[in-house]
Amino acid sequence: MASLELQGLTKKYGDFTAVDHIDLAVRDGEMVALLGGSGCGKTTILNMIAGFIDQYEGSVLVDGKDMKHIPAYKRKMGVFFQNYALFPHMNTFDNVAFGLKMQKLAKSLIQEKVRRILQLVKLTGMEKRFPRELSGGQQQRVALARALVTEPALLLLDEPLSNLDAKLRVEMQIEIKRIHRELGLTTIIVTHDQEEAVSLADRVIVMNAGRIMQAGKPKEVFDRPANLFVGDFMGFSNFIAGQVRRVAGARVSVACSDRELVLDEADGTGLAAGDSVTLAIRPENILPAEKGAENALTGTVRNVTYKGTVTRLEIGDVFAETVFANIHESEDYEIGDAITVAFPSQKLLLYKKEEKRSE
Ligand SMILES: Nc1ncnc2c1ncn2[C@@H]1O[C@H](COP(=O)(O)OP(=O)(O)OP(=O)(O)O)[C@@H](O)[C@H]1O
Ligand SMILES: [Mg+2]
Repeated sequence: MASLELQGLTKKYGDFTAVDHIDLAVRDGEMVALLGGSGCGKTTILNMIAGFIDQYEGSVLVDGKDMKHIPAYKRKMGVFFQNYALFPHMNTFDNVAFGLKMQKLAKSLIQEKVRRILQLVKLTGMEKRFPRELSGGQQQRVALARALVTEPALLLLDEPLSNLDAKLRVEMQIEIKRIHRELGLTTIIVTHDQEEAVSLADRVIVMNAGRIMQAGKPKEVFDRPANLFVGDFMGFSNFIAGQVRRVAGARVSVACSDRELVLDEADGTGLAAGDSVTLAIRPENILPAEKGAENALTGTVRNVTYKGTVTRLEIGDVFAETVFANIHESEDYEIGDAITVAFPSQKLLLYKKEEKRSE
């Protein structure tokens, strides 16, 4: 069991700042997901925590103790690397047993622990295979087993499920969650899948360009992204430019192109008529509607993509921006059809203009 604190953690490569003043306190037993696009600094942060990068600014504290001069092998962290890095000359059993042998546990205990963990990651029977004799997903699970088997106080997982097929991925997510709950390991998991982050973690940290954009409970980050960047990352793929027309208590009407949408901004946010804003809404929250219903607008179907559980429609002639809607109905839509859709007022988020979308 361990708590982890990052204070002003910064990593520069020449003039380039890969990790930029990260402050983060992870409670004992908490699972935190680092979520962000490629190159935003996730792996670099894990490498500094694990002790694989020792030139950095700021501090890494474990249970309040500065790790600066503690070599990686003494940190007792379970690490799953993005590229797995299995020992190529060792078979599955030996790869997984490595950390336990280092701890000089009794042979019978090592065998029992390896047996249990291989069963967990569904690799029973693969004990004697070498990494080159395993598929990518199997190698990934060996690496996961190796990180978990020593039941480390701090577990660092860098995209542990990225190579698995959808079904196995969900199964392993459930396993990771169960192991986390049972053993109470303080865990940092890196992913660039927002659904994985919100379903696994107690807290989600959304990063961009080496910085934290938002840190919060999964529901907070998923439902109320702090800015347009986080919104975009969390699946709000409709961004509609508008201008505040009226504010009446919490009720705000916004002119978007030559249409109008109303929504409730409970906190008022100091809006006034004339303010430039951006409205955001998820494609799945845009619903087919009757003309005349609240926030119901008519446009033209521009494109139809069947996605299995939903049909994704691109709808033009509503605003200047194309609207993306995921519709559940089995009814077939065709390009050129007129369609009326509602933008439910409680599902619309409003951002003031100065919060620009960054890349
Ligand atoms: N040794 C290095 N020298 C120079 N730049 C580096 C070095 N290592 C990483 N970087 C840069 O630092 C940035 C952060 O890299 P990092 O590997 O932490 O990204 P990441 O968030 O893990 O991305 P991904 O999701 O693709 O794994 C990237 O722009 C990368 O090119
Ligand atoms: Mg990475």
